[in-house]
Amino acid sequence: MRVVVTGGAGYIGSHTVTLFLQAGHDVLIIDNFANAAEDVPDRVAGLAGREAIVLRADITQPESYLKAFEDFAPDAVVHFAGLKAVAEAVADPLEYYRVNVGGSLTLFRIMQGTECRRLVFSSSATVYGDPERVPIDEGHPCRPTNPYGRSKLMVEEIVEDWGRSDDSLAAINLRYFNPVGAHPSARIGEAPNGVPNNLMPYISDVAQGRRERLQVFGDDYGTPDGTGVRDYIHVMDLADAHLAALELTGRASGVEALNVGTGEGYSVLEMVRAFESASGRSIPYDVVARRPGDVAISLADPAMAEARMGWKANLGLDEMCRDAWAFTRGRNT
Ligand code: NAD
Ligand code: WQD
Repeated sequence: MRVVVTGGAGYIGSHTVTLFLQAGHDVLIIDNFANAAEDVPDRVAGLAGREAIVLRADITQPESYLKAFEDFAPDAVVHFAGLKAVAEAVADPLEYYRVNVGGSLTLFRIMQGTECRRLVFSSSATVYGDPERVPIDEGHPCRPTNPYGRSKLMVEEIVEDWGRSDDSLAAINLRYFNPVGAHPSARIGEAPNGVPNNLMPYISDVAQGRRERLQVFGDDYGTPDGTGVRDYIHVMDLADAHLAALELTGRASGVEALNVGTGEGYSVLEMVRAFESASGRSIPYDVVARRPGDVAISLADPAMAEARMGWKANLGLDEMCRDAWAFTRGRNT
């Protein structure tokens, strides 16, 4: 199959492109490299033994990729490109709506001008907001609590409306829980610029000695050890879910949302201990105040993803920590 992958040089995109190439799909990456290293596509090609075509372009600028898109004539689009930092979105919501919503609209318009009607969109469990029950199934109300989450829900709704107007559209909004880890080769992984926003890259930095201590945001939640519980999913399992979603768009029509998580939850302190044992390093930490906007527990009910796509996560916490650690060491030494 011929697949356009926007954001294909990014963290989740690069792992997904690796699996697509290995599965025999032809890939056109469209990425502006705003949050990706230049050498990622070469690393992906090294892992897959085949290359993707790479176009440096911005999804908000139609003239920068319209012709390449039309010439490539994709069968499907997998749409990762966008901005993803919650605090940044709160500080500059218009930029998040411009890129995440405006960029998606521009991309969908270009798709609409071609024959391509198969779409997989990177949504997020953040669309659910503060959960009223866990595990969270897809029927849970969507009430995002910040502009980033609202931008994701807006795009989901745009795709749903598009599906109502065009019954040839087959689209899947994948709601990722907390992606972590790296390719087992340690050649690609998550390499955030500056201070990491997320727990796992921060822990990796502390283990590596790049940062002194972890701040644990609150230990007074209603969870077994008082720290926040999340559904961490290995990025290779997440990449594999995209292969399954791509296949589903070939046999289903309409628009559906699917959770991508493991259904298992781990607390911040459990993550710290697992990482200590994977790395053999100690992770000093201080408990500080809760981070505004955080929820106590976020956990997927992944049953629908298994029923619809025949997909479920296979990798556990040990593999997540082992692979994140191997990548961090390789990156910093
Ligand atoms: P990432 O930042 O590593 O990847 C995004 C990629 O898109 C980067 O390569 C970046 O250079 C590119 N990009 C950004 N703006 C662009 C633009 N205007 N035009 C072209 N390319 C652009 O992030 P990621 O973690 O791989 O996330 C991928 C997608 O998954 C995002 O849409 C994100 O919102 C979503 N998501 C991520 C998480 C997570 O925790 N990582 C969770 C849920 C959903
Ligand atoms: C996990 C747990 C923190 C950092 C975010 C986005 C979400 C999605 C995934 C894109 C929480 C605690 C964290 C630290 C800590 N992204 N923590 N010290 O908040 O579940 O989700 O990333 O869609 O939209 O909100 O992930 O990794 O930031 O936090 O104690 O330095 O770790 O309080 O309990 P989160 P996270």
